[in-house]
Amino acid sequence: MKKINIDSSLFTENRKKLAALLKENSAAVINSNDIMPSNADGTLKFVQNSDLFYLTGIMQEETVLLLYPSNSNEDHREILFIRDHNPDLEVWEGKKLSLKDASEISGIKTVMELSAFEHALHDIMCKAENIYLNTNDHDRAKNLVENRDMRFISYCKKNYPLHSYNRISPLIYRLREQKSEAEIELIRKACDITGDGFRRLLGFVKPGKYEYEIEAELAHEYIKQGASFADYEPIIASGENSCFLHYVKNDDVCSDGDVLLLDVAAGWANYNADMTRTIPVNGKFTERQKNVYNAVLRAMKGTIKEMKPGKTVREINYITREILAKELVDLKLLKTDDVKNIKIKSAEFKKYYPHDVSHFLGLAVHDVGYFDEPLKPGAVLTCEPGIYIREEKLGIRIENDILITEGGNDDLMKNVPSEAEEIESLMNN
Ligand code: GLY
Ligand code: MN
Repeated sequence: MKKINIDSSLFTENRKKLAALLKENSAAVINSNDIMPSNADGTLKFVQNSDLFYLTGIMQEETVLLLYPSNSNEDHREILFIRDHNPDLEVWEGKKLSLKDASEISGIKTVMELSAFEHALHDIMCKAENIYLNTNDHDRAKNLVENRDMRFISYCKKNYPLHSYNRISPLIYRLREQKSEAEIELIRKACDITGDGFRRLLGFVKPGKYEYEIEAELAHEYIKQGASFADYEPIIASGENSCFLHYVKNDDVCSDGDVLLLDVAAGWANYNADMTRTIPVNGKFTERQKNVYNAVLRAMKGTIKEMKPGKTVREINYITREILAKELVDLKLLKTDDVKNIKIKSAEFKKYYPHDVSHFLGLAVHDVGYFDEPLKPGAVLTCEPGIYIREEKLGIRIENDILITEGGNDDLMKNVPSEAEEIESLMNN
């Protein structure tokens, strides 16, 4: 995969912002993720801890960041630890980061090997009063597996029981919700490559193609451009599969007369796009498909208009429900009574629209952020209404990524075709 250089000032700024939020005389420790096992001696592809990446830009396992902003030893206010140089391992895995590489990527002056960590930590623990540690407090995370951060919390509390312990997550989640210019550029790039992948498909999809063949086309476009798939499994769902929200088998054949729902996007330098488009397999929507499609498109456009500073995600969800409730009645799928109270979704309403419209987007696809707090410029969110009619094997979702700005918002996917006629025309030329 392409090596993408990000200016270290992004990570230096992020550390500065976090340090400013710590109480006086505080240290903070953030660990990388583990390399997760699969079977026998197999491992899964390494995924960096997004908080550690946000603060350092380091993509390597066994990395630890130790911050102690009030240290009288200025060189030890920020220390980055990377795995020890190991010539035997290098024979198999190639070169790991040197101390100098890690310093250049992160902008951290003092980089040490991990074997020096306990000693350096002890020195700081003897002086610091408050210790900030990292946990995954995403509201939908299950946290079934104990990660390095959790093991470190146990270690710290056992060895240093009388310090005052604090959570990093409420601080860093609010920081991560507000993307900087540099981060927005990276997300824009992921969105642009996602658009290229979609355009490539429009000339490729036809009856008889398998969903996995379409996945391969996208992989070609993304990887050729140095990108990857965004950090979720591609959803390439034709016919009835379009009604399953997180369908990822992608093993079915695309049939004449069906729609194809594509919830698939590129990732760039760890930043994610998230896009959904729904297209007719044979290049022409039926009248019914187009009516449902346009209802969803109106819901997306109507919602995007309301995505602006001061609004909360929860309020935005209600706006979409209002629009979709009306559309579902017009489509004769629901009666007015079924959608009386859009704050509490009725079972009837949920049947056709079971999810919500928006989530934060960034270093995670369902990124960290607060749904009940007013949005500020710099937040990036998805807008993804849908209507799913199982009995007609017809699921339509359309999803764009929206940057909140001072004046309202900027649709980062406004150039990716979404009008039904434009999609049809591109599929037929
Ligand atoms: N892209 C899948 C989702 O947002 O849930
Ligand atoms: Mn999404």
